[in-house]
Amino acid sequence: MKIGIGGDHHGYGLKETLKKFIEESTDHEVVDFGAHSSDAVDYPGVAFEVAEAVSEKKVDRGVLVCGTGLGVAIAANKYPGIRAATTHDTYSAERAQLSNNAQIITLGAQIIGPEAAKKVVEAYLNVEWSGGSQRKVDQIVDRESQFLDQNFKDAAKSSC
Ligand code: RB5
Repeated sequence: MKIGIGGDHHGYGLKETLKKFIEESTDHEVVDFGAHSSDAVDYPGVAFEVAEAVSEKKVDRGVLVCGTGLGVAIAANKYPGIRAATTHDTYSAERAQLSNNAQIITLGAQIIGPEAAKKVVEAYLNVEWSGGSQRKVDQIVDRESQFLDQNFKDAAKSSC
């Protein structure tokens, strides 16, 4: 798979560690969306870039890192069709894929150490959605599309 990876300056060190880990210990390819240094960068922009790449199928899955894993998840989840889950343990990482079909996991560099984070990413990449909870994921997708439809209606209305 192609894995989009990114994060803010708080996540930079862990992002670099996870990038190296995926490249050297798995068969997956990494696309790095930054940050490319520990210079301050706001987390929403990077999260949006990874979410967009997933949404446009330029990458298969994403891994986002900030201080807590929360901001990047909240930002990525604003993207239509994106399910980003904050995971700091291997069971949640597996279930994010198997139960929720989450295309992105997020981690917090202030929450988890590098070795445990590698295990979490490995657990996430080692499993594949098989449609077991399709009905529940469909309910989320359907509800989201209702809001999108309304937004389009609102936009159309305000443009008249
Ligand atoms: C770090 O404390 C934090 O502000 C940022 O990296 C991110 O975790 C926000 O949710």
